[in-house]
Amino acid sequence: MIQATLHQLKVFETTARLGSFTKAAEELDITQPTVSSQVKQLTKSVGLPLFEQIGKQLYLTEAGKALFTSCQDVFTELDNFEMKIADFKGTKEGKLRLSVITTAAYFIPRILGSFCQIYPDIDVTLQVINHQQIQQRMLNNQDDLYIMSQPPEEIDLKSKPFIKNPLVVIARKDHPLAKEKQVLLEKLQFYPFIMREYGSGTRKAVQNLFNQYDLTVKVRLELGSNEAIKQAILGGLGISVLSKHTLTSACHEDLTILNVEKFPISRYWYISHLAGKQLSVVAKTFLDFLMDRTLLMKV
Ligand code: PGA
Repeated sequence: MIQATLHQLKVFETTARLGSFTKAAEELDITQPTVSSQVKQLTKSVGLPLFEQIGKQLYLTEAGKALFTSCQDVFTELDNFEMKIADFKGTKEGKLRLSVITTAAYFIPRILGSFCQIYPDIDVTLQVINHQQIQQRMLNNQDDLYIMSQPPEEIDLKSKPFIKNPLVVIARKDHPLAKEKQVLLEKLQFYPFIMREYGSGTRKAVQNLFNQYDLTVKVRLELGSNEAIKQAILGGLGISVLSKHTLTSACHEDLTILNVEKFPISRYWYISHLAGKQLSVVAKTFLDFLMDRTLLMKV
């Protein structure tokens, strides 16, 4: 049996997660020599190196990777236990780890605001990333819940749709197509187009539609952010397809939605979690809250 204290495991897990002794010391509010000595003692009781240092970069060895996975399981279980105890005492407290797709960032923070007002003892970590990055976090079991438009079929998930997320064609108000009442889909190929980056769900949905109708657009620019795309449209660089939710903020008086045939591409946001994962009390509370809040909302 390996003789390791919980503290040593926490220090190791933090160092492995952050890839740095210095950052681990900062996060845990201890000194860097303490981090090193705790990792050293743990390495001694495991009997194999846990890290390998190449240049300035810290890498996990095979033994380190195995221990990291076990540590994450242990700390998740302990967190769940604390949440259950708090729940028995009649309070909801603990951590909620959420990853949401870029378009949901226009909407989820507001819901989270109301949620945190009701449950002030729940700490939320929110990642705003694209479709491919969410998929990677699912594979690594990094979060409690995920919000996205196309839950990947190859991962065993439980998913519930909760609100519409239509994709629309957006242009500057003075764009030649803005005057047309109904724009033929094929006309899009004659105007510069701004596309989201590779790995984006929006891009995938747009390309599926264009492929279906054998359409090739002139991609003038690829950008990894909805906000940057809107600025590029305002700058006259082209038209694009974005979620209708991205049009909520005030600066968009100069933007318009084009009435293009086959649009909007109709989609939903789903809230998902890994099928084999037992939801924590806190995650379940958020899931119920979200479903309740969005029940009557329309887009
Ligand atoms: P994306 O996803 O940020 O990966 O484009 C947005 C969406 O699918 O709604």
